[in-house]
Amino acid sequence: MKNRTDIIEVFAWEALDSRGTPTVACEVGLTGGTRGTAMVPSGASVGTHEAKALRDGGQRYGGDGVRTATAQVNSVLATAVRGLDATAQADVDTALRAADGTADLSVVGANAVLAVSVATARAAADAAGEPLYRYVAEGSAAPLLPMPMVNIISGGAHAGRAVDIQDFLVVPIGAGSFAEAIETAWEVRRSTAAVVASRGHNVALIADEGGLGPVLPSNRAALELLAAGIEKAGFRLGTDAAIAIDVAASEFYDPAGRTYDLAAEQRALTAVELTEELRSWAADFPIVSIEDPLAEDDWEHWPGAAAALAGMQVLGDDLFVTDPKRLRRGIACSAANAVLVKPNQIGTLTAAHEVVNLAHGAAMATVLSARSGETEDSWLADLAVGWRTGQIKVGSTMRSERTAKWNRLLEIEARLGSAATFAGAAALAPAPAV
Ligand code: PGA
Ligand code: ZN
Repeated sequence: MKNRTDIIEVFAWEALDSRGTPTVACEVGLTGGTRGTAMVPSGASVGTHEAKALRDGGQRYGGDGVRTATAQVNSVLATAVRGLDATAQADVDTALRAADGTADLSVVGANAVLAVSVATARAAADAAGEPLYRYVAEGSAAPLLPMPMVNIISGGAHAGRAVDIQDFLVVPIGAGSFAEAIETAWEVRRSTAAVVASRGHNVALIADEGGLGPVLPSNRAALELLAAGIEKAGFRLGTDAAIAIDVAASEFYDPAGRTYDLAAEQRALTAVELTEELRSWAADFPIVSIEDPLAEDDWEHWPGAAAALAGMQVLGDDLFVTDPKRLRRGIACSAANAVLVKPNQIGTLTAAHEVVNLAHGAAMATVLSARSGETEDSWLADLAVGWRTGQIKVGSTMRSERTAKWNRLLEIEARLGSAATFAGAAALAPAPAV
């Protein structure tokens, strides 16, 4: 044994995520005795080009069991990383990738790989006696508390397709600290729930990420409710609080007809018509960020949409799937001005961090994101602070798998005290003209 940070033990087991779906949990142990654990999330509106989570199939848990993936951790991946120095994250991640051998990690599973990758960082941070956010930071880069975008109303795959658009979120652009931003979002959620109830909708329906899931006649109706909620809470629209949406357009794209089918409104739109529709919403509501306005492979129309919506943050999720290759293509054709970063889309911390740095190098904004299926683990919060992503998207202000991340960020900000820096509205693209 050379170092006290060499990996000697890797152990994985099957746990449950916030939807009750099995997920991979893992512990990595080092020579010097420190250990790190991690649990990984999973999505519902999963991009076609994401790394693949391995599921067992068969009868157990309706086919969603992950015992094959945990067995892969305990055998193939453990063998691959045992003896490696946990502080050399890139080497560990390279070994994990090589042990799988495929680009989409479909042999051992991206869920297995990410669990080991994150648990390794945790163990190494512990060995260094540092909080995870400091350990993952590049050199002496100062911690940066992210601007949250907080889910208030859900539709799409997260709420029984009550409306087509997947997320209607509040961005507390006037907040001066992370804690103030969360408090603003809490007020907006409470007021929006009151407005929803006063208009006769059901507020008992809580969506996958803790948002309200009312059945509404149109997507615009959701924007109206959120705007009314912001004002009822006493905030100025577009000054104190603004709106972000995740269109998640891949979910309602019909490749045969090349149309976007808004089922809630019984309308089928071309890419150009959908872009115009989004522009008209932005003319009537203070929308500052639009995620996945078009489908994941509609490369032909993304640059046009990005230009038409250029006053706002145009954010690629399913388009980029946290893949450096796809992000490079997007940078080359100006497909978007911001990228959503979900570590489980790509499978390792090293690759996800590379996407963040690539984006920043191209003057793009970054939003670190949880998945709709999450756990009580909070490592995502530390990555946002250490990697200085500037923004984070975790869901609503309730449900423990969501508050685990907010609570960790509140803790970090409180502990840093006067040394804490909050990214604020400046973190959103487009960068203000200088
Ligand atoms: P998912 O959704 O985790 O269900 O994929 C989140 C998102 O689309 O941003
Ligand atoms: Zn999305």
